[in-house]
Formats: sequence, C-alpha cells, structure tokens
Amino acid sequence: MAKPVLLMTGPMPPIIDRGLRQTFDCHQLPPKGRTGTAAAGTETPEALLARIGPAVEAVCTGGHTGVKTDEALMAALPGLKVIANLGVGYDSIDVAAAARRGIVVANTPDVLTDEVADTALGLLLMTVREMSKAEAYLRAGRWAKEGDYRLSTASLRDRSVGIIGLGRIGKAIARRCEAFGLPVSYCGRRPQADVTYAYHADPVSLAKAVDTLIAVIPGGAETRNIVDAQVLEALGPRGIFINVARGTIVDEAALIDALRTGKILAAGLDVFVGEPSFNPNFLTLENAVLLPHIGSASILTRERMGQLVVDNLAAYANRKPPLSPVAETPFSGWGG
Ligand code: DGY
Repeated sequence: MAKPVLLMTGPMPPIIDRGLRQTFDCHQLPPKGRTGTAAAGTETPEALLARIGPAVEAVCTGGHTGVKTDEALMAALPGLKVIANLGVGYDSIDVAAAARRGIVVANTPDVLTDEVADTALGLLLMTVREMSKAEAYLRAGRWAKEGDYRLSTASLRDRSVGIIGLGRIGKAIARRCEAFGLPVSYCGRRPQADVTYAYHADPVSLAKAVDTLIAVIPGGAETRNIVDAQVLEALGPRGIFINVARGTIVDEAALIDALRTGKILAAGLDVFVGEPSFNPNFLTLENAVLLPHIGSASILTRERMGQLVVDNLAAYANRKPPLSPVAETPFSGWGG
C-alpha cells in the first residue's frame, strides 16, 4: 500500500525525519523565493505545492521553519487531515481555519514544561543578579585589575512575582518561585480553583501589585502587545520583565523605551518579534539579558518533543486518536 503523503514546512530534527520516513512519503517545502525545477532539485515552493498538494494528508511544522500554516497553505492541501507542530505554542498555525476544515492540529505539551520553566528561572536569576555581565567582566580580565564586579542593584530576596498565563508551564514556574521564597500572583482569563495565588483580572492590575513579571502565555492575535506601555509603567522603576512566551505578546518599542528611560529596571528575553532576526536596539541596552529562544532547547527535551510529533502523525497513519490534539480542534475521528 502506498504511504500517505506528508509535507514538512522546513527542515526537521533527525528524530522526526527518521521517524516519519518509515510511515510517510515525505516532502519538504523549499525556502520561499527559490527558483528552479524538480529535476534540478531546486523546485519552487509553489511548484511543489501544485505537484503534490492534492495528495498531502499530513503536515509537520514548527515555529522554527518560519512558515505560517495559514488558510492559503491549507487551501493548497485539500486532502489535509492532520497538522503536527513541534512546540507547545502553535501561533504559526491558523487553528480557526483548521477547525473549519476538519483538520486536527496536535502540539507537544507536557514534555517541555519543566525545561521551559527552568529557562524562565535561569533568565530571572541572570537578569536580577546581572550574571551575564558579571561573567563578561571576568572573561575580559577585569576582576584582578579593577576589583570585584559591582553589587547588583536588584536581589530576589525582596521581590514578588506576577505570572501572566498560569497554564502548565506557568504553574511549573510558580512552583519554582515558591521554592525560592517568592510570593506569586497571576493574571489570566479567569481565577483557577486549584491554586491559592492572588488573582488579577488584567496585566495592569497584576503589574501594579508586583515588581517582577514573567510572561508565559500563548502568542497570537488575542495576546498581541498584552504587555504594553501601560503595563510597564505600572510595573515601575524596580520592575523586571521576563518573557519566555512569544515576542508578539509585548510592545517591543514600549519595552525598549521603558528599559532606556528607567521606567523599568531590567528585562530578560528569550523570544522576539520576527526571530531569529530581532530589533537591533535591544543590543544597545545594558539592562537586558537576551537569549536566542532556548526555552525547550536541550537534546533530551527536543527528542521527547520530536517523538511526540512522530507519535501524533503515526496515530493518524494507524487511524488511532492523536495523543495531544489542541483544544480548538478536538478529535472526533479521521473521516474519509
Ligand atoms: C514552544 O514549544 O512553543 C516554546 O517556544 C519552546 O521554547
């Protein structure tokens, strides 16, 4: 029997590549702007879609490919049944369009929760205690010549944390904050029955109540610029902002202004609008710690995420329910 046809929207880690080729007839979308022919191995994305699009039943994607799995791409794949995303965040997929078309979207929750929570706490410590600047001071040979690195302005000892988005990862961050002796508050769509942390209905109210904000909400239209000039103003001059969510959840121009003018003290950022490119003004800020989106990026966790992608797609090939469909596209059978 012929293998079902699968489209990868870009290069995938070996664990996914190997795992999928056993079950699927795999094709990789060429980079945008490429010109050439299939025979020369330089086919354009448009030509590939015209050639194999009608046969594609499954898509494997991830934010790292830079490709949006939007209505236009879905329209070019009329037989599409399942989209598996490498990542818990699926803001690069139009899930409303997928739901309308009866396509199941699956992501990689749980397997990365602790890794991303660790990253958030690492970034918080680096930012509060100026660790990357202190290391650069040592590496530049300044310790012996100029004396001890200066005392950090901030300390975790007198801080309180507000978490924007108390989902699985938010709760893992909250547990770590509690272990550090930090009082925790949160904001979200509604109060959660299974936690005792103080609830705030909106980010401005949360920012007023704390001096350290950690954002870990999903990206997308609903949360765009949810951290804006008003929130940063409310956080105040002692304020520290940590973002392990998506670059789009913060108004980056307002953040750069707040860091430059002392409206807040410092920021630690793992995510940026337009990454891997980002606003170069961030590089001019002494009070920002910048990481290249390493939230879940350990070999162990990425292998677990990759395996879950493979397992979700294998479930489709074997007519079994997907392991981790997203809430917007609940599974009700594979149809046809
Ligand atoms: C995800 O999986 O969406 C996160 O960005 C991991 O860093």
